[in-house]
Amino acid sequence: MSDTLQIGRDGRLRHLLTMEGLPRRLLLEILDQAEGYADGGHGDKKHPLLHGKTVVNLFFEASTRTRTTFELAAKRLAADVVNLQVSASSTSKGETLLDTLKTLEAMQVDLFVIRHEASGAAHFFAQHAAPGVAILNAGDGRHAHPTQALLDMFTIRRHKPDFSKLRVAIVGDALHSRVARSDIHALRTLGTRDIRVVAPRPLVPTGIEQLGVKVFHQLEPGLDGVDVVILLRLQKERMLGAFLPSTAEFHRDFGLTRERLARLKPDVLIMHPGPINRGVEIEGDVAYGERSVILEQVAHGVAVRMAVMAMILGGEAA
Ligand code: NCD
Repeated sequence: MSDTLQIGRDGRLRHLLTMEGLPRRLLLEILDQAEGYADGGHGDKKHPLLHGKTVVNLFFEASTRTRTTFELAAKRLAADVVNLQVSASSTSKGETLLDTLKTLEAMQVDLFVIRHEASGAAHFFAQHAAPGVAILNAGDGRHAHPTQALLDMFTIRRHKPDFSKLRVAIVGDALHSRVARSDIHALRTLGTRDIRVVAPRPLVPTGIEQLGVKVFHQLEPGLDGVDVVILLRLQKERMLGAFLPSTAEFHRDFGLTRERLARLKPDVLIMHPGPINRGVEIEGDVAYGERSVILEQVAHGVAVRMAVMAMILGGEAA
């Protein structure tokens, strides 16, 4: 699902659906604009750029960080925000996605943030949205999670600005991870050549090498010399069959422990999109330890989402 839908004829961002095919210039523009909003942004939290605009958070899947940071981002730009509890809405009575979209559009919504378990749901919305209504993908199935990739790139750039020199390992359940796919596309766009996917065989998506990554089935060689480790959650809710003998075995072979961390570069960055499975892909101590930037990722989520909304709805740069 490479995308022309998300870029307008004028070359500006119209929707944000995927990192695939997002031009480097737009990716950098988002990161640069987010700098202005990070750390409280110029000493003032509020930027009334979206005053009078309405944002609907439409989450069909569970979320803590993404939903909350989208809400905070919209509020800091002074938009009106509605959070739709999908389990309590009419979709549970059988209303289709399209009917939900059209009903909400009739209430003069300017931007939808959508998370859905079906890959392609955000594209579907974007294809059917009225002109002027923007769609932001907050995660569609296993496909894409573009704002997560942007906040990951923002976090990496603050510590290690030269992407062309980076060695990045993405470790764990890549098979079910929209974050892995979006991160890989974003890293490639920014010039990273050494990207590794490190996972047991059943958790590596077929054909992932075609995205320009190297696959490792053992942790130690996969982590050799890396600058950044992006850990992924074991997504049990998406596992239909038995993918792994046990989580204990996964931890033994692929879990990031203090001992393993001590063997990595002293300035390595440890990342995780959250939520973490403590004691599975990462030890609690490591998750909040010295090399971890996991909470920075959360904080940057607000700034990056503000930047995306401002670029799509706010017209001029803030
Ligand atoms: C991720 C997601 O939902 O794709 N979480 C997030 O948005 N922070 C990863 C996950 O659920 O494991």
